[in-house]
Amino acid sequence: MIIDGKRVSEKRLELLKEEIDESGLYPRLATVIAGDNPASLLYVQMKHRACERVHIGSISVTLPGDSTTAKVLETVDRLNKDPDINGILVQLPLPSGVETEKIIEAILPEKDVDGFHPFNLGKLLGGYPTFAPCTPLGVMTLLKEYNIDPAGKRAVVIGRSIDVGRPMAALLINADATVTVCHSRTKDLASELKRADIIVSGIGKARFITADMVNENAVVIDVGINHVDGKLCGDVDFAAVSEKVAAITPVPGGVGPMTIATLMENTFKAAKMQSCRTVP
Ligand code: GUN
Repeated sequence: MIIDGKRVSEKRLELLKEEIDESGLYPRLATVIAGDNPASLLYVQMKHRACERVHIGSISVTLPGDSTTAKVLETVDRLNKDPDINGILVQLPLPSGVETEKIIEAILPEKDVDGFHPFNLGKLLGGYPTFAPCTPLGVMTLLKEYNIDPAGKRAVVIGRSIDVGRPMAALLINADATVTVCHSRTKDLASELKRADIIVSGIGKARFITADMVNENAVVIDVGINHVDGKLCGDVDFAAVSEKVAAITPVPGGVGPMTIATLMENTFKAAKMQSCRTVP
């Protein structure tokens, strides 16, 4: 079975637009980008397009590539104080001179629609999340949409990044899976993968996971975005692995569209939470 993230994301965006229209709210997202990394520019553009589609207002702040930590902090502070902005997304990676952790910690947790603030990551780890990072939360939504319940399953997460691996593991634990996190220092990745019912890979190595590493019943979620000869491909050798396993996400058209749809859902959630606190 091919898990079609594009189809699910389209469906969810349509539903979200209806919900937003019915709510009477006008949620607004601000993106902050420093520098001119082409991939980052493209991602941010895609996020703004999605906003338009679901009737979320959006503004974009573009800073020069030589911006200091203080300059980015000043922007975040301004957006924190702006009552018309419900969600703030600082596109990563930031230029090498900028202290990323300081920036993430400066975003108000209630506007942290990326879910990277330690407050939100802590709540996620505690099992009572408000905002979870969009890519792993999008993976959970995909599993739900395909009636794949992680409870009691052996899940193997590959990668331990703040945006994918770590929150993915927390979400799967919260959904009662038995979770193993593998990474570059894992001794025998193939034997860990062979036992897995659910595999989520976010390592960033093109076609690294081959058919001999997985079992026939596995559900394989490929979060990798790699460029080979000008073509986009995931961490999984899709042609061979898709012939063997129970279910798999393609790249493109799998997790990627779900990340953006989830960002829209998180932004609406932020707007709803903030509107509850406003005195009419
Ligand atoms: N860069 C790559 N993925 C992401 C993401 O999900 N959020 C942000 N802010 N930056 C990213």
